[in-house]
Amino acid sequence: MKIKNVVSEREGFSTKVASYFSSLSSAVGLGNIWMFPVLTGLFGGASFIFCYIFFALLTGIPVMVSEYVIGRRTRTNAIDAFGVLGKPYMKITGVLGLMGCLFILFFYSSVAGWVYSYIGKAITGEFKGISNMPLDQANTVSQEIFNNVINGLMGPFLLQLLVITVVAIVLILGVKRGIERLSKTLMPVLFLLLLICAIKGLTQPGAAEALKFLFVPDISKLNSTTILTAMGLAFFKLSAGSGTQTTYGSYFTGSTNLVSNAIQVCISDIVVSILAGIAIFPVVFTFHLNPESGPGLLFNTIPLLFSKIPMGGLFMTLFFVLTGIAATMAMLSLVEPVVAFLSSKKLLSRNTAILITSSLIAVVGFLTMHQGSYVNTIQLFGLNMSFFDFFNNGSSNYLLPIAGILFSVTTGWMMDSTIFHDEITNNGTTNKKVYPILRIVIRYLTPILILVVFLNAIGILK
Ligand code: PHE
Repeated sequence: MKIKNVVSEREGFSTKVASYFSSLSSAVGLGNIWMFPVLTGLFGGASFIFCYIFFALLTGIPVMVSEYVIGRRTRTNAIDAFGVLGKPYMKITGVLGLMGCLFILFFYSSVAGWVYSYIGKAITGEFKGISNMPLDQANTVSQEIFNNVINGLMGPFLLQLLVITVVAIVLILGVKRGIERLSKTLMPVLFLLLLICAIKGLTQPGAAEALKFLFVPDISKLNSTTILTAMGLAFFKLSAGSGTQTTYGSYFTGSTNLVSNAIQVCISDIVVSILAGIAIFPVVFTFHLNPESGPGLLFNTIPLLFSKIPMGGLFMTLFFVLTGIAATMAMLSLVEPVVAFLSSKKLLSRNTAILITSSLIAVVGFLTMHQGSYVNTIQLFGLNMSFFDFFNNGSSNYLLPIAGILFSVTTGWMMDSTIFHDEITNNGTTNKKVYPILRIVIRYLTPILILVVFLNAIGILK
């Protein structure tokens, strides 16, 4: 198979470090700070976390590496890449990935709006009263504040629109000036702040119980739904199977070590999630909150945590600002693959592509998430499933893993093995020992593992 000559006048990342931070800035987001604690709470703690880490290592990393290889080799968007590789029928992989991105954006933009609203509340001191209240009352007030944010008539939509506009502006600034510069400066600060929150969490009376919940697994809590959700989270977290890592990979420098980049991103991402868990769950147990309380978990616990810290208002502002930034950067990486594809055809300019994608997200996102919207009340397929559940589960548990299988099949079976070898070893200069192992993992282990989880979830394999 011959790779067509790709003439590249495209922008790209300037250094190896920039490749790491940009890929990480896609991985780290609401997934760590909002979704990870919510799901860990719902699915029983440690056993879910171990399961998620298992899938991150054995399915997330290999799919990420496959995406990097395809992106860097072809230097084009996640759909056309398969054409450049001479496998046009595999373009479906990129289509599924991009659909996954859009599905995620429909709800992600709304939750990011809630975070933006909390930035305002933290700055204006709306939670000040909480610090002097008895536990129960503090908890009730904090829940009321959250309900007001999500139930407002126009408020939630305007916030969502604000987030979408911010994302569009950064994307208009372009890859290097927008994504790279932001991620390099802000990721380390976010990490530091989460570390402070986690340390504060550990001084709470509920810390021991929280640590037990987070780290002592109870195997009886594992079932096929938990396993499927843990795998879905691994894909969602690492932005694997979505075409995002293909798109970012296409901006990587030739000297980036694709394998170690993927491993470093994965480990950093897991650490960030665990830190968020250590910050949040001690508060849950101290205040006797329900770990299974769902999407409001982050928004109810964090104000309670900061109400107990000297200068809590200031730290809380910083926390939500950074969470807002992480959410925004992950959103950039969700929109970028779609924009990169739409604008590659030369029919649309990059800015028009950004405008069209943003409008789509705003309209569908509004209908899906707005509490007053009629669409929000529809129960899909006669099941107890809202559009939010549909987009959420559909993307993480199905679209991304299925695309993940196809990405690994492409690099493992369809791509000329010398090309795969050259990309993994940077033309024979590194990873010589890792290569044969990785090849087996990508050809057999990863796709089979994902398939087994699916068959198990739909009851074919017990
Ligand atoms: N990984 C991001 C997060 O955890 C979400 C995401 C998924 C981003 C898929 C890009 C692609 O928040």
